[in-house]
Amino acid sequence: MTLTGAGTVAAVIGWPIAHSKSPQLHQYWLDRHGIDGVVVPLAIDPAQLEQALRALPALGLAGCSVTIPHKESCIPFLDEVTPLVTGVGACNMIKVSGDRLIGDNTDVFGFAENLRLGAPDARWDGTALVLGAGGAARAVVAGLAELGVPDIVVANRTVKRAEQLADQMAGSIKAVAHGNVSIRFVPWEDISALLPNIRFLINATSLGMAGQPPLTIDLSGLSSDCVVNDIVYQPLETDLLRGASARGCVTVDGLGMLLHQARPAFKAWFGIDPTVEDQQRQLILGST
Ligand code: ATR
Repeated sequence: MTLTGAGTVAAVIGWPIAHSKSPQLHQYWLDRHGIDGVVVPLAIDPAQLEQALRALPALGLAGCSVTIPHKESCIPFLDEVTPLVTGVGACNMIKVSGDRLIGDNTDVFGFAENLRLGAPDARWDGTALVLGAGGAARAVVAGLAELGVPDIVVANRTVKRAEQLADQMAGSIKAVAHGNVSIRFVPWEDISALLPNIRFLINATSLGMAGQPPLTIDLSGLSSDCVVNDIVYQPLETDLLRGASARGCVTVDGLGMLLHQARPAFKAWFGIDPTVEDQQRQLILGST
């Protein structure tokens, strides 16, 4: 690690923050490129979020990653946000420009890039079924729209949330979509009936994550043409991915979303678009 008084300092803010892999992720690239800099984890109490953000320019930070629970609450304190932040309703990366704070959402890129690289032969048409309607699901829906998927169906345990997501994003997502995109919701009970006709299935809930309840859906109707992605990466091979793989589907695990969302942040702060490397993936996997 190189860190002199002239180094570039960025941060990752959350509450708590000890679990975050971001400092390690960025340190790998800082070392790889021999950059004089560091990304420090900062535990920011939600009650002091505004003061902390306003201090970033004065402290000379290049910017910060934003994680739970600040992704939505930071938005009112920013001077400028990208259309993606507006569309998704969440900001996970701030760049300091002079004394201004500019918010972006790189989770969308992280999701889309992971899926694009994981399913290189996919045709971005047809219907995508997204399970979940939280912050992660919003980034997934925006990413699918950016990839050109024209028909996005959202299923969620709490129907109201899926309905709100579809209503709110239908208009705002046009800014990033290629052509027209339709976003609608279906009841959770309808998932199985949809499986034979979808081209993409994405789990954007916390179901199946270590310590969480399992995702129990009957995959018997799933077409082998369907690309299946789980944003859960602990475990790396979830029951959903295992079941889909057994049915002959292309499967994409969730770790790449974490790795790729960090790339635009690193570029914004340190000026280099880094490459996600297998050694880095192993490093992060080993620490989860
Ligand atoms: P994130 O910002 O990471 O997406 P979140 O906003 O808490 O986190 O969303 C978690 C998602 O997992 C939601 O879609 C949630 O469904 P609800 O909106 O009904 O809460 C889903 N989820 C979590 N636990 C679940 C469970 N036991 N059964 C079904 N869905 C669940």
